[in-house]
Parts: sequence; structure tokens; C-alpha cells
Amino acid sequence: MTATVEKPAADAPSAKPTWDKGLANTIAAETQMSFIDGGKGVLEYVGIDIDSLARNSTYEETVFLLWNLRLPTKAELAAFEQSLRDEYALPEEIYAIISALPKTATPMHALRTMVSALGTIDRDADDDSLAANRRKALKLVAKTPALIANFDRHRKGMPFVKPDAKQNIAGSFLTMLTGHAPTDAMRRALDVCLILHADHGLNASTFAARVTIATLSDMYSAMTTAIGTLKGPLHGGANEEVMLMLNEIGTLDRVEAFIKDKLAKKSLIMGFGHRVYKAYDPRATYLKTFAKQVATDTGNEKLYEMSQKIEDIMAAEVAAKGIYPNVDFYSATTYHSLGLELDLFTPMFAMSRIAGWSGHCIEQLSDNRLIRPAALYVGPHGVKYGAITDR
Ligand code: CMC
Repeated sequence: MTATVEKPAADAPSAKPTWDKGLANTIAAETQMSFIDGGKGVLEYVGIDIDSLARNSTYEETVFLLWNLRLPTKAELAAFEQSLRDEYALPEEIYAIISALPKTATPMHALRTMVSALGTIDRDADDDSLAANRRKALKLVAKTPALIANFDRHRKGMPFVKPDAKQNIAGSFLTMLTGHAPTDAMRRALDVCLILHADHGLNASTFAARVTIATLSDMYSAMTTAIGTLKGPLHGGANEEVMLMLNEIGTLDRVEAFIKDKLAKKSLIMGFGHRVYKAYDPRATYLKTFAKQVATDTGNEKLYEMSQKIEDIMAAEVAAKGIYPNVDFYSATTYHSLGLELDLFTPMFAMSRIAGWSGHCIEQLSDNRLIRPAALYVGPHGVKYGAITDR
């Protein structure tokens, strides 16, 4: 997307503000973590294409890569995995906070509150040094799975299950969620989803995290901001909306009429389109094959077939506009086939992306400047203040 753009010299005169609704043509930060070529459908983490990572890596190794800008050695990976496992546990104060949350709260509202609560018990919370921020990033990645799984247990009236430090993040999460160890295939399926969602340039939630940390606030505040931003259906909330759409359509024979009717009414089809990709989202390419496999293994072929048909109709109707399935489209079939409830789909996105958000915060602080764009004032001038009795 930005490969040919050069950073202006530090002493270059400031350009006049330009109008750029949605900031689609604005470069507001540098990153070494992920590269996107939206025209060609390329995504790389630190130069390694996402497909190779999804096939060969693990979430833990991917997080090491994003944070250290290189792959670990075997010994480094083992040490990194152990440092994450050492931080899986939640303090008792956090379990008390989870217990106090209304059982009717949705998981994204609960997650925003719980991640914020982690900041209240961390003595390093306001220490902005690199070492402290690295510690906080590690804690956030390690503890978020226990927050999501145990809030789900709380709302269902089930006892808490503590994280299992003998398993990787995906395995420990699924064990907490269901109360029993997952199969290797399930653990791997979630691990791959976590790899695919870990970072994605200056997406809306990452931008929000960088705006917050750039004020010299703190990492927990930045994560809370990012979770609130991810929640929206135009961003991470789309995976949940895709599942709602599949449920509403119900059967394969209803797909065509449903999609054509929505398009005729100019409604958005969730899980399609992307601000940056005007070709097939490379994460969706991999997830599609994966969703087919997981759906077949778990008797959810119908969902996959409906998804494929939606894709075929969208290809005929709107692919010419550069609208293809995005990462959220086949995530829905995959998460449903893994037995996850619909409103846990977006928290899965957050559980993974917290690695990217925290990495971006550290990058932002390494060369910080307050992020503060301008607004074009379009209101009146010179209006007289009228006394309240005259209005
Ligand atoms: N269904 C139907 N038409 C669409 C869709 C869609 N999903 N997405 C874009 N379009 C049309 C849009 O109506 C517009 O048409 P026209 O030129 O005739 O007015 C054209 O495509 C350009 O769209 P845009 O709104 O200018 O694109 P944008 O860059 O502002 O929006 C988007 C990108 C992702 C918000 C949008 O594609 C969308 O709302 N998609 C559905 C929600 C979704 O799946 N979001 C997840 C994004 S991927 C995961 C993540 O990073 O969060």
C-alpha cells in the first residue's frame, strides 16, 4: 500500500492540511511489523508472507516475530513461551471483578472492562519505559484468554477454570472455555486464527491504540481504546454479523435471493470489502480452505456451502468494484465449527490482535509525536450570544 511513499525529511516544511475523509490516503505512522499491498492481496509480518506463517508457525512464535522483528531460535522460542505461560494466571482481584459483571453483559463490553481492570492492579501501569511496556504487553497477551473464557463461564453460571500453563495459548483458552482439553485439530485451528489476526498495519483499532499511547497515557488505556474500536461492525464486529447473516439466511436455496435483495437495497454484505484490499484478502484465502476442513470435520458443511454461494454471488455482482471476502467472512464458519458462541467471535479477534496493538504502542513511543489531525469547521461564525430569556 505504501511501499513507494517516502517519509519527508525532519526539517521539511509542514504541508498544508488536506481533506481526507476516513484518512484513507494519510500515512500517520511507521511500522516494521506488517506490510499490506492491498492491490495485490499481500500481507507480510516482518517480511514473511502470512500464508507461510499460517502453515508453519504458531501464535507464540508469531508474537515473538512481531515484537522482536525476527524469528526466534529454538531456545528463544521455548523461553518466550514459558514467559507467557508464567503470566497466564489472573489475580484474585480480577476474578472478583469478573464475578461482579452482569451476566447479561456482552463479551466485548466485558472484555473492555476486564482489560481496563488489569491496569488497576499493575504497579507498572504508568511506567512508560520500554522494559515496563514489554512486560505489560506480555501480560496482556498471556492473560486476555483467561478473561474471555472465564467471563463466558461466569455468565453461564459455571465455576471458573484457571489457565493451563502446560498448554499453548489456544489450548489453554479452549480448555478454560469448555472445561476439557481440546483435540489437536481444534487447538491448531484456533492457533491459526490467532496467527492470521495478530497484526494488520494501521487498522482502526491499532490507530486508536496509537492515538491513546501517543498522549503518553498508558498501555492498558490504549488496549481499552482499541477494544472499543474493534467492537464496531465495520471492523472486528463483522465476524459476528457474518454469522448472524448465515443464521438469517438459513438454507442454501435462500442465499441468492437474500444477497441480491440486500445489494439492491444498497445494504452492506458483512465480511466483504476492505479499506485496503481491493483484491482477495490473503487471510481469507487461507481461512477459506481451513473453514472448509473444520466445517467438514464437525458436520457444519451447510455453513461452508452457504458461504461459498454468497462468495459466488458477490463475485458476479460486485467483484468488479474490488469487493472480495475479508478475514471476517470465513472466520465465522471456522469459529462456529469450533463450537464458539457467536458473541465470542470478536473477542477472539481481540485476543489475537492485542499482540499487534501492544507492539504498535511500543513502536509509537520509540518515535512519539502527539497524533492530532485537524477538523474542517463547517459551522457559522460571529453568532451573537442571546440571553436565555430571549430564546
Ligand atoms: N457490501 C456491499 N457493498 C460494499 C461493501 C460490502 N460489504 N463494502 C463496500 N461496498 C461498496 C460501497 O457501498 C461502495 O459502493 P459505491 O461506490 O457504489 O458507493 C464501494 O463498495 C466502496 O466502499 P467504501 O464504503 O468506500 O469502502 P470503505 O473503504 O470506506 O469501507 C469497509 C471498507 C470494510 C468498512 C466496507 O467494505 C464494509 O463496510 N464492509 C462490511 C463490514 C466488514 O466486513 N468489515 C470487516 C473489515 S475486515 C476486518 C477488519 O480489519 O476489521
